[in-house]
Amino acid sequence: MSKIVVVGSCNIDITVECDRWVHPGETIFGNRLTVSPGGKGANQAVAAARLGADVMMVGCIGDDVYGQLVLKALKENNVDSTYVKVLPGENSGTAHITVAEDDNTIIVIKAANDLVSPSLIDEAWEDISKADMVLLQHEIPAATNAYVIEKCAAHALLDKITYLTPNEHEAATLFAGKGKADILDQNQGKVIMTLGSKGVAYAEKGQVITVPGFKVKPVDTTGAGDTFNGAFAVARANGKSMQESISFANAAAALSVQKLGAQGGMPYLHEVEEMLK
Ligand code: RIB
Repeated sequence: MSKIVVVGSCNIDITVECDRWVHPGETIFGNRLTVSPGGKGANQAVAAARLGADVMMVGCIGDDVYGQLVLKALKENNVDSTYVKVLPGENSGTAHITVAEDDNTIIVIKAANDLVSPSLIDEAWEDISKADMVLLQHEIPAATNAYVIEKCAAHALLDKITYLTPNEHEAATLFAGKGKADILDQNQGKVIMTLGSKGVAYAEKGQVITVPGFKVKPVDTTGAGDTFNGAFAVARANGKSMQESISFANAAAALSVQKLGAQGGMPYLHEVEEMLK
């Protein structure tokens, strides 16, 4: 069984479903309010655990009710939360989400996630160092992410290879002034660009390869990228090829958007295997 460690954020998602977007200065009625576990880190941990990996989460929560909900969800999904620290007097991270017109907007309050520190990485290092794959996102301090990368590289555990999985907008920001083809070509086998309904593209041996997605009717796309990342990590750690891993992750993401909530629709292994048939 592959061992995956996620160092990252744990949030509670406070989601309002609306028929349409609200304009600045306008008041409208929403249809439903949902409070559910989320956070890009915790989402990726749950996605990987549901797909059969042995997963550990490293992060921080507050000593509030939301923190307890985070821990409950991790436990229910068999994610080891030994290094999810409860910080006295702090609030847990929250994400304020609006779902409308088949899309979403998210505002994140980082709170305890902003206190995930290098010292927590040192504390958890014995377990992190045994991982086949370490997953990072951008909802904890950049300095802590850098510390994890340096430590992993120094121990030659990750072979210094990084997969970067931006969507088109994120790639345009990260590689300012470069077009899609150049970004992929100059980062062969590393940049895996998600293109929404157009699938996922990466480059190999000088060729851009686009792996098509699955056509489904989305209910809530929140967490689809996290499901993709968790599933991709599981597939790669299990030795699948790039193309197989991306197809596996595409199938997992397509299943995840068919239910409400970031973790609500994250599939189990048999569901992904069924879809791939
Ligand atoms: O990627 C989706 C996640 O982003 C949500 O669950 C929310 O918590 C934000 O972190």
